Amino acid sequence: MTENNNNLQHIAIIMDGNGRWAKRRGLPRAAGHKKGAETVKEITRAAGDLGIKYLTLYAFSTENWQRSKEEVDTLMGLLREYLKSNLDELKENNVKIRFIGERDMLDKDIVDSMDKLEAETAANDALTLCIALSYGSRQEIVGAVRKVAALAKRGDISVNDIDIRMFSDMLYTKDIPDPDLLIRTSGEQRVSNYLLWQLAYTEFYFTDTFWPDFNKKELETIIQNFNSRERRYGKV
Ligand code: FPP
Repeated sequence: MTENNNNLQHIAIIMDGNGRWAKRRGLPRAAGHKKGAETVKEITRAAGDLGIKYLTLYAFSTENWQRSKEEVDTLMGLLREYLKSNLDELKENNVKIRFIGERDMLDKDIVDSMDKLEAETAANDALTLCIALSYGSRQEIVGAVRKVAALAKRGDISVNDIDIRMFSDMLYTKDIPDPDLLIRTSGEQRVSNYLLWQLAYTEFYFTDTFWPDFNKKELETIIQNFNSRERRYGKV
């Protein structure tokens, strides 16, 4: 197994480049998303094999709702298929699934499938696969502020009780450690409203590979690169 001497527990990924992958091949964007969904399965298996404890994937951002209806429908269709056909494999591989994001925006059958997958994999303890769906980090932070403000207003907490730990527990990612490594594919170097609070001390890695072409071998190369870095968390 790839050496893990830098305490790599949690990898977060911005899966980018599905559209360009398809365009290069003269295919519709949907073909890129379809291949990208296969890569999700491959990389989930790879992360488990490599002993990673948490993998967080950005499947659909709050901003993605603004894409054409056709593309949103394609992405929701792939998600539906993934949610409805993937339970056996997740169970077989002892994967626990979590979803982060605004559930209100999603169709009821999708939310029902998410609830079912979360419930049926809750006791698994190899890899935790966290899927960001209808997720926006600023929205998440504002939601947390609202929860804290409501507690203070009710008198359940005093303003001085508010600290980093408490605030973290108000986020969707409660109980999930912060990512150690963020990977973004397709050559873009942006955070795009992803895990803004949680990425405070995360190492970043950008690769030109389009998400549909991303694979276990490249993941291992990136892990080796991560292991060679010195993490100081602001200290000398
Ligand atoms: C970015 O490519 C990718 C997305 C917006 C969605 C990611 C979705 C998947 C990988 C498939 C479905 C997911 C699951 C969990 C089954 P882009 O369309 O922005 O590509 P571009 O920048 O090249 O246009």
